[in-house]
Amino acid sequence: MLCLAGTMYILPIIAAMGMRSKIAGAEIAPQDIVSLANALREVKHGQWFTMVQRFMIPINYIRTHPGYIQHLKLIHNPPDSQGQQTPVILSFRDEEKLDTIFDSIETQTYRLPHRSKEWMRTVPSWPKIQFADQVVLPRLQKIKTPLQLRKTKSPVTKSNRNQVTERERRYAAKAIPVASIKDLEDKVCFLSRRYIEINSKILNGEALHISDRDNNLVALLFSVPDEYRQMLIHALEHIHAVMPGELKDDDSRTAFFRYLSIHYVWYARFGESGSPASVHPDHLKKPNKGKVNVQQRMPRQSKELRDNHEEYALLADAFADFFDLIRVAAYLPVPEQYDEIKIVAESLPMGGGKSPAYPFTGFVLNVSSCTWAHRDGDKIMCFVIPLDKFIGGQLGQIETGFCFDLQMGDVLAFPSCDITHFNCHFTGRRVTLVLHTDPKGDGWAKDCNGWAAHVVTAEGGTSEMEA
Ligand SMILES: [Fe+2]
Repeated sequence: MLCLAGTMYILPIIAAMGMRSKIAGAEIAPQDIVSLANALREVKHGQWFTMVQRFMIPINYIRTHPGYIQHLKLIHNPPDSQGQQTPVILSFRDEEKLDTIFDSIETQTYRLPHRSKEWMRTVPSWPKIQFADQVVLPRLQKIKTPLQLRKTKSPVTKSNRNQVTERERRYAAKAIPVASIKDLEDKVCFLSRRYIEINSKILNGEALHISDRDNNLVALLFSVPDEYRQMLIHALEHIHAVMPGELKDDDSRTAFFRYLSIHYVWYARFGESGSPASVHPDHLKKPNKGKVNVQQRMPRQSKELRDNHEEYALLADAFADFFDLIRVAAYLPVPEQYDEIKIVAESLPMGGGKSPAYPFTGFVLNVSSCTWAHRDGDKIMCFVIPLDKFIGGQLGQIETGFCFDLQMGDVLAFPSCDITHFNCHFTGRRVTLVLHTDPKGDGWAKDCNGWAAHVVTAEGGTSEMEA
């Protein structure tokens, strides 16, 4: 019944989820299986849409995707009128023939509805740059400042973090506002100890690229086109749905204020690196050590992502079009940085295109977020997108003296690894979406962190063990 509702590919999914005994036994009532079959056929947003689209391999994908998937075969033994059986070999992509066969199976229930049109869509993996030519971006205004960004040690330590943050918040409260991009250009020429406050109203629909005197990126700021605002509102509803009760009116000044960070990311921080080509990594043990966590030898998904995959898929789907916009918006003004960042996303295990936030390897949701002064372990830069309605929460940059008053619909990119930043206090409902990449992924992209001899790559592999 479920094959009839979906495709043959539902079988390995049922097996992988350990559901065979539940479905074949008495644990799941027949009427529930019929309901599930109906829901699969008429897939709707908010129900099985993401599951079908991402995991159950839509028919169009089976038809068009080259490779082993088209060569899987089934042997069908239908009895003829004399009761003889003649084997018929069927390909998994012969979905019409398979549907006919499954349609003829006696189920003693209503016929299933036709598949909804979503089944015919092709979404093989998270898109890289889809519809790039249809994305209209704001015109880019570049300004160069007298600043010089250098690799410096963070001024924040565990012991002075609170003190530094509160001091900088006090300075930021007295920030000098700017009225236009021209006004900003004038004021940055006379940088003082005071913060300069920038909001998206000065952009007049343009994007602002601020660099230091050596052309290093300080910040990229723009507001999303109107059609994307509606998308963000829709995505907020999804956030509400997957974390009920978490998104509420808050005040970061209250005594027991806390905020929630959910990391849907790939980590590439390794426990160990490298091994002789002649020994499989799983067989390597450290002397005098018991268990070794072999999983930490390759990039891996965060616990939140692994434990909440359906929520993750729903959120990634809700932000999918917005991520498309970011891909284009990130590439055009800073193509070199984009190409550097994407290297890690493309080297993730099990093929590229695994990250919905590509070229970044993941996204983070900070609910009621108000950060202390810090730098992040991000590769080159991150994108920060505030959501919902709030007052305050400006993002201050200590080394540059800029303070960005961002609201929903604004997007800020900056080198979060080199610039110490913090949030001012806020009231209201505030979420930030952050797109970033773990820089440790460079080691995996370069030589699989020393394990390259054991890894099969897209280029055909370099395994010395096979040589
Ligand atoms: Fe940060």
